[in-house]
Amino acid sequence: MKPFLQVDNLARHYSLPARDFWGRRERFVALEGASFEVPEGQILGVVGESGSGKSTLARLLVGLEPPDVGSITLGEQHVRAGEAHSGPLRDVQMVFQDPFGSLDPRMRILDSIAEPLDHAGLSLSPDERLSRVVGMLERVGLGSGALRRFPHQFSGGQRQRIAIARALITRPRLLVADEPVSALDVSIAAQILNLLLDIRAEFGLTMVFISHDLGVIRYMADRVIVMQGGKIVEAGDTEVLFASPRHAYTERLLSAMPRF
Ligand SMILES: Nc1ncnc2c1ncn2[C@@H]1O[C@H](COP(=O)(O)OP(=O)(O)OP(=O)(O)O)[C@@H](O)[C@H]1O
Ligand SMILES: [Mg+2]
Repeated sequence: MKPFLQVDNLARHYSLPARDFWGRRERFVALEGASFEVPEGQILGVVGESGSGKSTLARLLVGLEPPDVGSITLGEQHVRAGEAHSGPLRDVQMVFQDPFGSLDPRMRILDSIAEPLDHAGLSLSPDERLSRVVGMLERVGLGSGALRRFPHQFSGGQRQRIAIARALITRPRLLVADEPVSALDVSIAAQILNLLLDIRAEFGLTMVFISHDLGVIRYMADRVIVMQGGKIVEAGDTEVLFASPRHAYTERLLSAMPRF
């Protein structure tokens, strides 16, 4: 299968406030030499300890930050380091760990979900706008009763459903999910994971799914990359990687999980 998302030699450095003996800003390498491919409709799992660069990778994929080195190709679109005006990729949306972070507390659910539509410049009539939002709310398991309410009036699981509705309203082709269920208890998390799997099948969505929970990764991902210290140290099909990890770090990661 032709890769839909292709990432080549991606890197991101942060300059730290500290200066060295010669007064140069010290650089911290948050991501280096990241290369991988994801075929259309597949889920790539990204796993690794805290600080390994998972969210940095996510921010580059959705265009919240530009890469310092390397390129990202999504379908026919490219982002290359140093090409500032190429702009971020279209058709990419993100779901975060904390839906409070992506939902404006003062905005009603209707407007929160519709906001990406409004920015897409589709010039929908108010009725069309409303019916799209209601359709998406129903798709994520909430009724139109939610429309006029505010984020704080929902549970964590419901808020994550709303954040997913907001991410999907423009029908993106790539969804980047950064620890989307880590703040939820187990049964609610399972519901959200199943919702994402159903939507993936229905929309033919390609996904980059980040989690530090190997059980979640195994449930969701077709392929997995393992990150450590800003580098991809292992990559493989989910079942193969779980059955026979090649890299010592992956093995340690797996053995640290009592369930495995
Ligand atoms: N804006 C920034 N400036 C300086 N350093 C940063 C910045 N953003 C991230 N870092 C550093 O880059 C490294 C990778 O961070 P990142 O958030 O990608 O890790 P992560 O794998 O998502 O971790 P976690 O599992 O805790 O979410 C960390 O050491 C972090 O401190
Ligand atoms: Mg993170």
